[in-house]
This record gives sequence, structure tokens and C-alpha cells, in this order.
Amino acid sequence: MNYKENLDTSNIPEHVAIIMDGNGRWAKEKGQMRLVGHATGVESVREALTAASEINVKYLTLYAFSTENWNRPKSEVDGLMDLLVTTIANELESLNNNDVRLMTIGNTDDLPDGCRNELLKAIEKTANNKGTVLILALNYSAKLEIKEAIKRIAKEYKEGNIGLEDVNDELVSNHLYTAGIPDPELMIRTSGEIRISNFLLWQLAYSELHFTPIYWPDFKKEDFYKAIYEYQNRERRFGRIGEQLNELDKND
Ligand code: IPE
Ligand code: IPE
Ligand code: MG
Repeated sequence: MNYKENLDTSNIPEHVAIIMDGNGRWAKEKGQMRLVGHATGVESVREALTAASEINVKYLTLYAFSTENWNRPKSEVDGLMDLLVTTIANELESLNNNDVRLMTIGNTDDLPDGCRNELLKAIEKTANNKGTVLILALNYSAKLEIKEAIKRIAKEYKEGNIGLEDVNDELVSNHLYTAGIPDPELMIRTSGEIRISNFLLWQLAYSELHFTPIYWPDFKKEDFYKAIYEYQNRERRFGRIGEQLNELDKND
């Protein structure tokens, strides 16, 4: 089935988040070094980004490196950081040609200098682009993000700038790295793992979750469209019952 052609263009998610997983196993199955898997995974980033742009997904968040990933062997961490630098440098022109804006979430201050500088340059040079926003989660931890938000909110309370009555969903959201960005309607994880791995815990509260056994380096545009197609065939009830949704549709 051609998933793209069968998509309902009036129901495209505004924000899709992806846990790009399975690079290591993909490489191992091919008798290659893990880093070959990561390098091949860059192809899949292009696939997902092009697919998202083609159907006007406004925000695409990709989990590229977690705070827990520092625990990997040093050679792998170094290889990932080098890959990030070369990929950003190589892709900058193409990001601009495709009107893609680059952003990051996570503690990027603690990335190696070379990485941080390359990222800052690309963020600045794509800042005025109006197409899809590519958000890389780098040195990212959802628990850390929430702790930092709590600290800032507590400080504002202590300084008398906000009261307890001001603490609502919007206030919390506005103190996260993703402030101003809508929560993802859809989260995809590749490689068959069925867990969240400290990714966007607040923002995924009501997201549809799509798990696929495909390893990230094998993930293609059509797999992205398939995930969107399946998302469109889910019933998002937000606590209501199905019959109420039909009533709401009628009143549209
Ligand atoms: C995801 O692939 C990439 C990163 C976490 C950086 P993995 O490297 O986790 O691949 P597997 O899970 O070991 O196969
Ligand atoms: C999650 O993948 C992080 C990224 C994709 C960057 P991991 O492979 O690190 O997650 P776990 O360790 O299997 O939970
Ligand atoms: Mg993994």
C-alpha cells in the first residue's frame, strides 16, 4: 500500500518525535562496527526529515544522544560526537535549501566545544527558515529537563513573581526546553524496544506511540508515512468515550 497517497492531509500531526534506535544491532548483524550503524543512520535522518517536510509536519524531534549515553565506551561516544560535527557541517547547505530550521533541546552546554560551536553556527544560519523545524535532542534527559523547570519555577515563586495559583500546565510547559513548541501528537521508536528511555516525559503525556521493529538505519520515508497513516487511524479520546467524539465531529 502507498501510505503517502492514502494520508488524510487535513490530519497531519504538527509535531512528530522519534527515538532513533537500533544502529548498533543493525551494524552487528552486518558484521560491522557500531559506528558504521550510526553513520548509516544519518541517511535515515534525511529520509525522516524529507518525509516530514513533504507532508508539512512542522516539528520533527529526533533523540540523538541521551545523558545516559555518556556511559557508552569512550570510542563510541567520541565517534558519535565526531559524526554530529561532520553531519551538521555537511548538511547545513541542504537544510537551508529545504527551508529547515535547526534547534536543539538538552544540555548542549556540556557537549564538546567543537560540537557546540558547529551546532550554534547551524542554529544561527537556519534561524530565519520557515519550513520544518528539526529539533535534535542532544545530551537530553526528560528528568533533568523537569528538574530544571522546577528549579526555575521555585525561584520565580521565591522572588514573588508567581504564586501557587499560577502553576498550571502552561506554566510548566513554558519552563521546559520545548517552550513554545506543541507537544508531539505522535512518537515513533524504532528497533523493537518498547520504552521511553527518559525522552519527553511531560510532552508525551497524551501522544500516540508507534513502535516498529525496524532498525533505525533501515528506516525509510515510507516507514514514516506508515506511522502517520496508523496514527490517523487511531481514536484519540482524551478521556472521553468514542460516542462523544462522533458527536463532536457532527458539530464541527
Ligand atoms: C541509537 O542506536 C543511537 C544512539 C543511542 C546514539 P543504538 O546505538 O542505541 O543501537 P542499539 O540499540 O545498540 O542497537
Ligand atoms: C535512547 O536509545 C537514546 C537515543 C536514541 C539517543 P538507547 O539505546 O540509549 O536506549 P536504551 O539504553 O536502550 O534504553
Ligand atoms: Mg539502543
